[in-house]
Amino acid sequence: MPATTHATRNPFSHAETPAVGVKLEDLCKSFGSFEVLKHITLSVEPGEIFVLMGPSGSGKSVLLKHIVGLELPTSGRVTVDGLDAADETTREKIRMALVFQAGALFNSLSVYDNLALYLREHQLADEAGIREKVMRALQILSLENAAQKFPSELSGGMKKRVAIARALVMEPQLMLYDEPTSELDPVMSATIAEIIATLKDEYHVTTIVVSHDRDLALNIGDRIGILMGGELKFLGTPDELRQSQDPEVVDFLNPKIDLKNPRFKRLETPS
Ligand SMILES: Nc1ncnc2c1ncn2[C@@H]1O[C@H](COP(=O)(O)OP(=O)(O)O)[C@@H](O)[C@H]1O
Ligand SMILES: [Mg+2]
Repeated sequence: MPATTHATRNPFSHAETPAVGVKLEDLCKSFGSFEVLKHITLSVEPGEIFVLMGPSGSGKSVLLKHIVGLELPTSGRVTVDGLDAADETTREKIRMALVFQAGALFNSLSVYDNLALYLREHQLADEAGIREKVMRALQILSLENAAQKFPSELSGGMKKRVAIARALVMEPQLMLYDEPTSELDPVMSATIAEIIATLKDEYHVTTIVVSHDRDLALNIGDRIGILMGGELKFLGTPDELRQSQDPEVVDFLNPKIDLKNPRFKRLETPS
């Protein structure tokens, strides 16, 4: 498939850059003798939203870190637009933004300065240009009134939105989100899911979301992968996932609360 099927429209100008695809080829990752990722092969197409689900500790964050070159494969390969993700120059050629689970905002900086930091450090614009880009990103996330606030003054949902706005000023060709709705109430989670889908629709930015959030995955995912025990147990569309009969997948998506679970018998008061 040609990489130019979709174009990423820069949110800050009318320039267009091709959306990028991501390929994992037989990716294995071990920490010591612990195999976290086992032979993962996966293609994320330019301009799609791919949602990676899986239980805690199944290797989702580790997989995401390979795409931005924060972890290196034990064997196999990860490429972004055909370029090796392990190669430092790839991050100079392709604009990738990772929105971390906890937001990773600088607490001593205002929201405005958190967003301006990347542009200032890379000298991408003068202060007037930075102001325009920062305010545009804040406006897209409905955060204009939060510019002078500090992270400690923000609600959980606002922090997540600031983290997304900060990624957006990088004008990314690839947006990666790690648990963007964790710790949020269902209404705010739905808002964040809408924002992720809107950014992808407006700018055709290739999007990979790591999330436990079943509603988010089924509503905004073009395709979904489920990682369990380091293996890709499911790969398909939301409809295919709804129809999956795989007992592990069904249990993961519909966990049951068993009040008579024998594992907890010992917690009962002896009679
Ligand atoms: N740098 C590291 N060194 C050793 N073990 C790690 C490292 N990073 C992650 N792990 C382990 O790899 C497993 C998968 O982690 P992670 O990808 O963070 O899981 P999750 O699916 O919850 O995001 C966990 O058991 C974690 O403890
Ligand atoms: Mg994680």
